Amino acid sequence: MTRALGPVAWPPAPIRTERLVLRASEARDRAAFIELLASPEVHTYLGGPRPRDELDRAVPEVPGRRPGLFVIEFDGAMIGTIELKRHDAESPGHIRPDLGEAELGYLFLPEAWGHGYGAEACAAALDWFADALPGKSVVLRTQTANERSMSLAAKLGFTEVERYEAYGAEQWFGVWSSPATPSG
Ligand SMILES: CC(C)(COP(=O)(O)OP(=O)(O)OC[C@H]1O[C@@H](n2cnc3c(N)ncnc32)[C@H](O)[C@@H]1OP(=O)(O)O)[C@@H](O)C(=O)NCCC(=O)NCCS
Repeated sequence: MTRALGPVAWPPAPIRTERLVLRASEARDRAAFIELLASPEVHTYLGGPRPRDELDRAVPEVPGRRPGLFVIEFDGAMIGTIELKRHDAESPGHIRPDLGEAELGYLFLPEAWGHGYGAEACAAALDWFADALPGKSVVLRTQTANERSMSLAAKLGFTEVERYEAYGAEQWFGVWSSPATPSG
């Protein structure tokens, strides 16, 4: 099954927001990727972190180089990633596989939480998506216990479709629709 996002030009020119840059990954991001994937705090609601020595071996020289994966940079350093990927409709417990062409995911380093960077970067990524694939919808899944993520989803304008049980926890499934015509 293809996991490609769709007919999008990739990588786009770096996207600048008030405080951040969204861009494709580069070799200099490798240490921050490992930090992100090894962080117990980041993975509290995501099934737990991966061991650092395993990541040291497995993470490629240029990690995360695929359409829809943005590195988020603040002050010249990577603080997190946002990914828009094809919606995986076959995940456990999920009863609305028909909704959403793409799925949004976000991972920020704990020291970057509490500044509104997640909201600023995700809004820019959704703008990019709306221009690239007008009229398409984006879905988002998160554990209801993940309060920061729930609050970010609401801020971005995702609306609840369903709650369901999977991986031993209650999951929230929401949807966001891009305008039918490009904003530019
Ligand atoms: C989910 C996640 C990105 C949320 O991060 P966050 O920083 O809380 O999210 P936001 O960008 O919406 O920032 C909101 C916070 O910034 C604060 N803030 C500070 N300055 C701000 C500003 N200029 N503008 C907006 N908010 C600001 C808000 O008050 C709020 O803080 P609070 O929750 O302590 O009140 C982050 O917790 C994370 O990466 N978690 C691990 C990965 C994960 O669970 N992902 C979900 C699976 S998809």
